[in-house]
Amino acid sequence: MKVFSKINQVKSEIIGLKTAGNSIGFVPTMGALHQGHISLIEKAKLANDVVVCSIFVNPAQFNDKSDLLKYPRTLEKDLEMLESAGTDLVFTPETTEIYPDGEAEEKFDFGNLDKVMEGAHRPGHFRGVAKVVAKLFRIVTPDKAYFGEKDFQQLVIIKKLEEKLFPEIQIIACPTVREEDGLAISSRNILLDMQTREAAALISKTLFQVKELKNKMSINELKTFVEKKISSSRFLELGYFEIVDESTLQPLTEIMKTKSARAFIAVKAGAIRLIDNVSLNS
Ligand code: PAJ
Repeated sequence: MKVFSKINQVKSEIIGLKTAGNSIGFVPTMGALHQGHISLIEKAKLANDVVVCSIFVNPAQFNDKSDLLKYPRTLEKDLEMLESAGTDLVFTPETTEIYPDGEAEEKFDFGNLDKVMEGAHRPGHFRGVAKVVAKLFRIVTPDKAYFGEKDFQQLVIIKKLEEKLFPEIQIIACPTVREEDGLAISSRNILLDMQTREAAALISKTLFQVKELKNKMSINELKTFVEKKISSSRFLELGYFEIVDESTLQPLTEIMKTKSARAFIAVKAGAIRLIDNVSLNS
């Protein structure tokens, strides 16, 4: 496994690989890797000759400085996990490598997609995500790029970015990997204390109950159900619960009429904000 921190090293390695006829699968991450990330690497490995992973904690997508500071950094363990999963190349740039001073800001227009849910709660977040992913796509020039449904809104926005700027890249959606008790695996889970971690299982449990109740309750009734469930734990506080169309991210008034309804939730578990989502149709 090769590990490079400079853009030029990655670019010349990729040119060599592509000239030799290899297809490139790409998995961008912010490190603190877990089984969710590794599932993306494994999926990429099955469909490409070469798998490239990037590890970069992207300051542009953190609107909260303390969130950036406390973001877990576990590079040595990450590299071990990537090596065992069969990754071929890892890109680990410094911030100055990705954001040199004086560079013009690239503008993106995602319409309404980045105004709702996570976008409303974290202003500028998706602009920061798009900014770094566009840069990484231009460096790695993959055939396929892999993103998790765990961050479904991000996935929808990346698909829009691909449509507008990178039609040559195929975006592959990967299902959410969960802990045994159902909690979606996240790099942030290790920041939870024991009691809050236990309580956090209620988040996915509630979402799965919504899926079961969807034909018996109206959307407003489901919202009240979720509010009650989450507030029954003193460790959890509901940020939002929304039922939207999964391609437009617009709120639905009825679930029955659509084949693409998805429920999204954000919950504050102690000091840590957790998000999750489930399809209500599949
Ligand atoms: P990060 O949070 O490290 O996640 C990297 C990729 O792993 C994302 O596509 C995310 O959706 C996926 N992922 C995380 N947890 C998962 C789980 N439990 N199951 C399946 N997939 C999971 O998302 C980012 O980094 C950044 O925003 C990034 C795209 C790298 C841009 O900086």
